[in-house]
Amino acid sequence: MKSVLLLNGPNLNLLGQREPEIYGHETLADVEALARAACADGFDVVQKQSNWEGQLIDWIHEARENAVGIVINPGALTHTSVAVLDALNTFAGPVIEVHISQVHKREAFRHVSYVSKRADAVIAGLGVDGYAAAVARICKLVG
Ligand code: DQA
Repeated sequence: MKSVLLLNGPNLNLLGQREPEIYGHETLADVEALARAACADGFDVVQKQSNWEGQLIDWIHEARENAVGIVINPGALTHTSVAVLDALNTFAGPVIEVHISQVHKREAFRHVSYVSKRADAVIAGLGVDGYAAAVARICKLVG
């Protein structure tokens, strides 16, 4: 079984409760189910969320051994974290950056992404469907 790591950063544990007018009513459990359903045969999705930058970095390092691709919504760390970018740069497989909201329609500080310097694709504004699209794409790329 090939594993796709689905990583969510700060505040995404509150998905469904947090600013639903922006992020919708689906929860992280719903995201996991959607992502699993989008997976091709022979692939599995491992979903992890942390509010801690270092924890996300440790999981990215582990993915070097355990995962064929990474789908990441780094939350606000997108706009600030060179450390998450550096960690992703150590990973050889495909990386897709997902944002539930259309960040480019929002505040200027959300228009900058360090993670985009590494991401092979960026999805923003598809709501939680963006995660499913990203997982499907990784399965296709790694096939
Ligand atoms: C987000 C957008 C970020 O700007 C924000 O800090 C988040 C969520 C999104 O999914 O739209 O936490 O990554």
